[in-house]
Amino acid sequence: MSAISNPVVAIAGATGAVGVEMLKCLEERNFPVSKLKLLASARSAGKTMKFRGEEIAVEELTEESFEGVDIAFFSAGGGISRKFAEAVKRAGAVMIDNSSAFRMDPDVPLVVPEINPEAAADHKGIIANPNCSTIIAITPLWPIHKKNRITRIIAATYQAASGAGQAAMDELEEATRAHLSGEPFEQKIIPHPYPFNVFSHNSDIDPENGYNEEELKMVKETKKIFADPEIRVTATCVRVPVLRAHCEAIDFECEKPISVAEVKEILSTAPGVKVVDDREKNYFPMPKDASGEDDILVGRIRQDISDPSGKSVSIFVAGDQLLKGAALNAVQIGELLVK
Ligand code: A2P
Repeated sequence: MSAISNPVVAIAGATGAVGVEMLKCLEERNFPVSKLKLLASARSAGKTMKFRGEEIAVEELTEESFEGVDIAFFSAGGGISRKFAEAVKRAGAVMIDNSSAFRMDPDVPLVVPEINPEAAADHKGIIANPNCSTIIAITPLWPIHKKNRITRIIAATYQAASGAGQAAMDELEEATRAHLSGEPFEQKIIPHPYPFNVFSHNSDIDPENGYNEEELKMVKETKKIFADPEIRVTATCVRVPVLRAHCEAIDFECEKPISVAEVKEILSTAPGVKVVDDREKNYFPMPKDASGEDDILVGRIRQDISDPSGKSVSIFVAGDQLLKGAALNAVQIGELLVK
């Protein structure tokens, strides 16, 4: 793979919750953009968005949008990614896709740059950005896995509204306001009462095994990214009334005994991770602190007392779903392609 210099970059879904963050990440990280195309639905055509002090007009996404484009970030849903993948390929651009459309395709690398950057080089025109809950769980687990192979992961998520898009974030705020003023509110995006409530993740349930899609993404994607088909993963995915950062309670079991001190030592120098673990002050990762942060916050690091072998540790993590869970990881993948 030869590096791309000064790419023409497109963002498909630029007006969405993730698209807006992609734009910010490109600017903040000084991504070498020679020209930026902002693409969204016809509804947004003509709106402008600011990039490096310049107002750029949003264009309607069409088959012709990718002429001259080198790198196309997609975050407009799986259907849109599937629909336009050929057009991106025809234009000779590389698609970095935030949707789940191609993640498990054996020809498509699924990349977390802190974990498997080398996989990006094998792309055939598409590189997939993993599911947000997967990225947030496995970025801190990878450096531990490398030192003392993790054989099993048990995760429970506390997921924010942002994973369901900007409209879901707006709906959470509006529904909360209505709830507090005792007014009726009809939710259109989220299928259950959202303010002051917690509910099982709003993705389809597999009728055979009872897992929802989000949980199965965590199971399958972890195996692919770690290139470890034997790793055993289970998850329970739940939405909480938080705007943009996911938390996860994770229990992992290693091949050999591992101490809390070792885990802290490994995580203290791990890229993309920050230890927040103050037992004295009872201060641990929170969505409030993770929002707007690039790093995944990790705390509650403790030996799992239910496993007398000393091989299991429990942690609690918080990560910004829109940043490391989506836009930031995608832009980091882009950075692997440019020089
Ligand atoms: P638009 O704002 O014009 O609807 P989110 O994940 O926050 O819901 O954002 C979804 C993104 O995908 C938005 O930028 C949205 O554009 C874009 N999008 C949705 N449907 C289409 C479509 N049919 N064609 C192009 N872009 C679309």
